[in-house]
Amino acid sequence: RSDNHVKLVEVGPRDGLQNEKKSIPLTTRIELIERLAKTGLSFIEAGSFVSPKWVPQMDNSSAIMEHLLTTNIPSPVPVTYSFLAPNAKGMENAANILQQHPGAYLTQAESLSGAAGPPAMELAVFAAATESFSQRNLNCDIATSLERFRDVIQGAKQLGLRARAYVSVVLGCPFEGYEVDPHKVAEIATSLLEMGADEISLGDTTGMGTAPRTQELLKCIAAAGIRPEDVAMHFHDTYGQALVNTAVALERGIRTFDSAVGGLGGCPYSPGATGNVATEDMVYFMESLGMETGVDLDAVADIGQWITGELGKPNESSVGKAVLGA
Ligand code: HMG
Ligand code: MG
Repeated sequence: RSDNHVKLVEVGPRDGLQNEKKSIPLTTRIELIERLAKTGLSFIEAGSFVSPKWVPQMDNSSAIMEHLLTTNIPSPVPVTYSFLAPNAKGMENAANILQQHPGAYLTQAESLSGAAGPPAMELAVFAAATESFSQRNLNCDIATSLERFRDVIQGAKQLGLRARAYVSVVLGCPFEGYEVDPHKVAEIATSLLEMGADEISLGDTTGMGTAPRTQELLKCIAAAGIRPEDVAMHFHDTYGQALVNTAVALERGIRTFDSAVGGLGGCPYSPGATGNVATEDMVYFMESLGMETGVDLDAVADIGQWITGELGKPNESSVGKAVLGA
């Protein structure tokens, strides 16, 4: 792939929906994923194997995985579907479904070799850069969470799957404020890579991040020996800084970015945090820089307008509204 290619990871069906108060029909979640798969997006986060008591909206993620394994969903490019799994229980729930459908998904090796056929699957763990956020989000301290993630990552590898690992609150914590130590972020990211994670997604969960602090964080990540190709940035746009921070990350060689259609999103354990940076805004921004996303802007704009309407929320994508004349 050319140096101009950027990989966009669409997190709308997971991060985008997990915080909604109103119950979302399974058919709507599936329609969202199927429509996104047609736009040229090649990575779509589809659900989460977490406790339904903690995040009720992600209940039924099993049904979503089952659907993806048993339905031929047309897509212009091969798609990898990702699911969060915080512990052995989440891993087992995912593994049970996958093992019932051998051959219905590509392994990481097969998809890297360019094999045609069914979609690939990926599992994702999610650590936090502060102890307070780890406790609220995972009900355990950072060290315990990392031990659990080791099992999930190993389990994913045994199934032949790609493993993604998030580190949340890297540029600000809802409970500890701005003082998140970038060295701690680098240390956690290093542990996760050593466990076998294929990619670290650095999450600005609160959207408090600014350009200088993004710069400082990524310098620290590079100084720890972490390669830019192993890093993704996951910006929430609560303070409107997501694209500025994206520009900083691009300059530092990062080529993978998470976004959510319609600017959906928010973490239930990050009070006040709003949506992810909108996929429509990200595509427009990348194209303005001559970067290739492979994503059809008009198609994602339509989806953003549709899904925010379904949820009864305003469309948070400036670009989406502009291209639709809405
Ligand atoms: P816990 O209460 O400590 O878990 O929660 P436990 O092990 O003591 O088990 C308690 C009950 O939960 C048991 O059931 C378990 O079986 C069940 P009971 O016996 O009471 O009926 N349980 C599960 N059920 C389904 N799936 C599982 C599972 N594990 C246990 N995997 C736990 C610990 C990790 C489960 C909980 O804290 C949890 O589910 N947390 C998830 C929180 C979450 O999903 N947050 C949002 C995602 S992170 C995010 O949004 C940030 C990100 O976008 C990046 C960024 O923006 O920074 C990724
Ligand atoms: Mg998030």
